[in-house]
Amino acid sequence: MFTNIVLLCSAVLSAYVLEWKMVSPFSGEPDVNQEVPLKSNNNRLYDAHHGIAMGVEDPNCDDAKVNLKVDWFMNPENYTCYEDKRLYAPKTTVHPIHSLEHIPVSYSAPHKCMNESIEYSEAIPTLEFTTGLNIVYCLSERSKSKYKVMLVDEIDIVLSHLEVLRGRGTLQLLSGTHRPLWAVYGEYTFLPRQRWIHNLEHGGVVMLYHPCANKNQVNTLRNLVKSCLYRHVITPYNLLSLDRPLALVTWGHRLEMSKVASEIVVDFIKKHALHGPEKTHRDGQYSLMLEEHANVVSNIEDSNLCPNYENINM
Ligand SMILES: *[C@@H]1O[C@H](CO)[C@@H](O)[C@H](O)[C@H]1NC(C)=O
Ligand SMILES: *[C@@H]1O[C@H](CO)[C@@H](O)[C@H](O)[C@H]1NC(C)=O
Repeated sequence: MFTNIVLLCSAVLSAYVLEWKMVSPFSGEPDVNQEVPLKSNNNRLYDAHHGIAMGVEDPNCDDAKVNLKVDWFMNPENYTCYEDKRLYAPKTTVHPIHSLEHIPVSYSAPHKCMNESIEYSEAIPTLEFTTGLNIVYCLSERSKSKYKVMLVDEIDIVLSHLEVLRGRGTLQLLSGTHRPLWAVYGEYTFLPRQRWIHNLEHGGVVMLYHPCANKNQVNTLRNLVKSCLYRHVITPYNLLSLDRPLALVTWGHRLEMSKVASEIVVDFIKKHALHGPEKTHRDGQYSLMLEEHANVVSNIEDSNLCPNYENINM
């Protein structure tokens, strides 16, 4: 079975190779738990993984205070319901959708300062492909230190264990680009995605709900998330669909829902929380419109996810 897929993949590649690139090896995890001083000097602002170092508050780049309107105009439209709420009512006939992005092990998401905007092409970016050609990425993982990356044109195959990626863009544009400073964990009146994507990278779970979503459903989901882990962010998000106005996002995974099924939610969190490429529970720095700081559930590392739901096994 595996051999067949390798052959298929190679055949597809030789027929459609446009270009290939080497991605530099991932050279050891940075010590992301260390404390960083409030002010930086210039050489602290750069790191080999992201370009611009994370967690360094620098008014010339990002201090989570200056230039925040680049990500969000602070417009109440982003957290207010203007439509008929009945359109967003829970529908028992609409099943939840779990979708995922296959993220290469060596991928490191770039950081951008607040002097540049970051655009996303997907409504719910997790790790995001920026706009461009439709391309299939075929990565052969022969050794962990080297990736041969083939860009293949418009082929509809997804072979997950070979890390074949389908998406838009070119590899150097493959990006979960976000801000160097991430969000303080907790619930927000509104939090822009350029911040919460960084929390995903640290293993956090982001709960999104449409401002018109049913209040009881939002409460049910909120209570589940808050009782499952400390490392969560909750924010309204008006780009969710009418059919599925509720969503959970982790690094590479989304769960979009019309109606909350607690066993599906708990299972999703247990399987996909804490799998970001950077393991740190350190709190973020951005707290504009934070309503409530997250509480610790099991411990600060979240070593026991959803402790009240031990019996849920799917
Ligand atoms: C934005 O600021 C950073 C850090 O000060 C700098 O390295 C970068 O070149 C600037 N980008 C633009 C587009 O000006
Ligand atoms: C705010 O809402 C507008 C209108 O739906 C949308 O175009 C914009 O992308 C939203 N902004 C953010 C930061 O989500």
